Amino acid sequence: MKAIVYNEYGPPEVFQIKEVEKPYPKDNEILIRIRAVSVNYGDIIARNFKNISPREFNMPLVFWILARFGFGFNKPIKKILGNSFAGEIETIGKDVIHFREGELVFGYTGEKMGGYAEYLCIPENGIIAVKPSNMTFEEASVVPYGTTMALNLLKKATIQKGQKVLIIGASGGIGSSAVQLAKYYFDSEVTGVCGTPGLEFVKNLGAGKVIDYTTEDYLHSGETYDIIFDILGKGSFSHCKKSLKETGVYLLSSFKSKKLLQMLWTSITGGKKIVCALVTPKTEDLVLVKQLVEEGKIKSVIDRCFPLEQTAEAHKYYETGNKTGNVVIKV
Ligand SMILES: NC(=O)c1ccc[n+]([C@@H]2O[C@H](COP(=O)([O-])OP(=O)(O)OC[C@H]3O[C@@H](n4cnc5c(N)ncnc54)[C@H](OP(=O)(O)O)[C@@H]3O)[C@@H](O)[C@H]2O)c1
Repeated sequence: MKAIVYNEYGPPEVFQIKEVEKPYPKDNEILIRIRAVSVNYGDIIARNFKNISPREFNMPLVFWILARFGFGFNKPIKKILGNSFAGEIETIGKDVIHFREGELVFGYTGEKMGGYAEYLCIPENGIIAVKPSNMTFEEASVVPYGTTMALNLLKKATIQKGQKVLIIGASGGIGSSAVQLAKYYFDSEVTGVCGTPGLEFVKNLGAGKVIDYTTEDYLHSGETYDIIFDILGKGSFSHCKKSLKETGVYLLSSFKSKKLLQMLWTSITGGKKIVCALVTPKTEDLVLVKQLVEEGKIKSVIDRCFPLEQTAEAHKYYETGNKTGNVVIKV
């Protein structure tokens, strides 16, 4: 099969299109013919991991060390990136009972990756579900990563109906899903923060207000929020506190050790809290998301699609920071 392979860390040019062995499903696995795979933050980091210092990695040092060994210290071990995909089941292993050949599915392989290819094997109990009937493969490929992360993280902050939520990083993979889930699933009032190119996109997702972080200080509007969801963890708890309500939560999907200590402290002291969490998506999340998509509560906005052969171009475009929606590779 054709796959986009990389043998050394570096710029998008490290990608090469190669003929590699087509995977064969084990008894409990499903072989998927991939139709589309989205380009996400994790792909960009993994492609260039050797040049990502612990400081640039938005997580505690120990996570950087673990991830660096997991992906390969000097050279990549996982040669095929891409983890949020949509496709068609080609064959199933003999013990698979919940899926059948020809079924259209979408899913998430997490750190196992493997999506920039014509075929992929995933265990039946992996993060996989029947594709929403009202989405194309390209649209569906975007959904698994962002929505499952956003859903689980918002639950960690025990989001409630009617709450006011500020989402910093609202145009990204997790943020764009968080805007829609907060607004249409949790019935909250959303303000989104992103750069200039993404403002219209975030507004169209359902944010009541949008703030451009390049021209405005989003914490100086005088507004107070029940939840401030900082996707990249660029802010600080002390800075956000004045914009949190009395029992408000500063929620982070990326965090350093200092914020973990603050979380521990605020869990003891009460009042305004900081919550940092690593989440592991579950199959049930994707099944719920499929239902929300079919009810029209979640949509995905594709900015650009690239053919598999142009995966390097897709990464270059993602890295310009000018995307207004998602970048997808069509296989
Ligand atoms: N906790 C977990 O379990 C978990 C799981 C997966 C990922 N993560 C973390 O989530 C992060 C990736 O999230 P993602 O995939 O949504 O990333 P992404 O797609 O790259 O989006 C990043 C967002 O942050 C915005 N942004 C960039 N610089 C900013 C600044 N200085 N101030 C405010 N906003 C800024 C971007 O806006 P513009 O593009 O408009 O500039 C964009 O909306 C990573 O740090 C990763 O470690 C955590």
